[in-house]
Amino acid sequence: PSKQRLLVVANRLPVSAVREGVDSYHLEISVGGLFLSDSYIYCVKEFDTRWIGWAGVNVPDDVGQKALTKALAEMRCIPVFLDEEIVNQYYNGYCNNILWPLFHYLGLPQEDRLATTRTFQSQFDAYKKANQMFADVVNKQYEEGDVVWCHDYHLMFLPKCLKEYNDQMKVGWFLHTPFPSSEIHRTLPSRSELLRSVLAADLVGFHTYDYARHFVSACTRILGLEGTPEGVEDQGKLTRVAAFPIGIDSERFIQALELPEVQARMKELKERFGGRKVMLGVDRLDMIKGIPQKILAFEKFLEENSHWHDKVVLLQIAVPTRTDVPEYQKLTSQVHEIVGRINGRFGTLTAVPIHHLDRSLDFHALCALYAVTALVTSLRDGMNLVSYEFVACQASKKGVLILSEFAGAAQSLGAGAILVNPWNITEVAASIGYALDMPADEREKRHQFNFRHVKAHTSQEWAATFGFNATLTEPLDALGR
Ligand code: UDP
Ligand code: G6P
Repeated sequence: PSKQRLLVVANRLPVSAVREGVDSYHLEISVGGLFLSDSYIYCVKEFDTRWIGWAGVNVPDDVGQKALTKALAEMRCIPVFLDEEIVNQYYNGYCNNILWPLFHYLGLPQEDRLATTRTFQSQFDAYKKANQMFADVVNKQYEEGDVVWCHDYHLMFLPKCLKEYNDQMKVGWFLHTPFPSSEIHRTLPSRSELLRSVLAADLVGFHTYDYARHFVSACTRILGLEGTPEGVEDQGKLTRVAAFPIGIDSERFIQALELPEVQARMKELKERFGGRKVMLGVDRLDMIKGIPQKILAFEKFLEENSHWHDKVVLLQIAVPTRTDVPEYQKLTSQVHEIVGRINGRFGTLTAVPIHHLDRSLDFHALCALYAVTALVTSLRDGMNLVSYEFVACQASKKGVLILSEFAGAAQSLGAGAILVNPWNITEVAASIGYALDMPADEREKRHQFNFRHVKAHTSQEWAATFGFNATLTEPLDALGR
């Protein structure tokens, strides 16, 4: 039998394009959890998959659009072309300046709170317009029997647009961020419209049970609908709501560690930091990741533990992201300032305590780096795959994971990691000391616990379960409920 057709729709495609000439592009893998190459690889293998999304580049002309469409087709990707104005209002504005901070409990950016309130409506209009543009492309690709899988906070309006085109379409929607308490969601002027549009989907998925519960209570409290054990019911129509925690393809990481080039890089790092313990942070340079808080905790640790000076280094990879949004620009300069100050304070002629890199790394470089102690201090995080990837790479080192209790991953890796409240830098500083001095047998025990979890819960399983459930959209009576 032929494979099930699957249309995956996400704001960002798994590859981003950089224009090099009138009709030529350079394609590179996008950074970010959702696009983890393993779910992509899995979907392409198991389903007849098309990936629909924005390639991260403005292409106003026909020739350029045709060329990009052709280049992406080889990767089974289909572009949605968003012009500069839409990107500004929809992506920089509504998605990343409003929904993103709100869903991560950070509130609206303080300085321009009033301005944001004023521009809210026009940004929300752009958001709906952009979602409609995604829907148009999906509709063109759609064939009867396809399953359409919509992703993330950028596309909350999409399920509704799709069902308006064709109410027979099987539509799933998955959120990669937290869904906040209904008390937070309530503050959004567009609260009801967003919830209703998501409810147009047949299946709605979240990383954790808590996020799913928050969503259901938002629907009951704000829309007055009925929550049932299966989901949310509106005049006899049921939208199924459930938790599908994502995982990683741990084998890909375990195998990579054996590659000669990864081994060579690990050796290089060892020589580079010879004798010093390395603490590692790998994050997009995003306020939800709590990078300034992490660095301040590290400073506090140095302050209180002079015997560790010169013996420990914090290596922070901070991948630039959403650089057109003012909040992110401010964060960049804030982090640089703190790093500079601390390096000035604790550095010597030959060494500095913090190595901060504003750049992304390729897969092999990342694997080589993961072989140390990791520090994940997100203020909030949907799941946080970096913590999973780190655990997958510790088979021989048994490095310690310090993990924020506000990352989705804390619910699965909690027993093996040292859990911290990232806002409490005294506690984080103490955990750094604890991790550095941890006896081998405790490290082994903690590692085993997490390693078992990471190996057992893969991205394949995640995509398969969600995909399977999304195909099961017959009337619920037929399922005997
Ligand atoms: N990543 C990468 N290159 C880098 C840094 C990170 O490819 O230089 C990847 C990392 O391997 C992980 C993803 O980006 O798969 C980040 O996912 P996570 O869930 O931790 O955070 P997100 O960026 O989605 O908020
Ligand atoms: C998070 C979001 C993704 C997003 C990624 C990178 O993982 O959940 O939807 O793609 O960050 O952010 P960007 O804005 O560059 O796509």
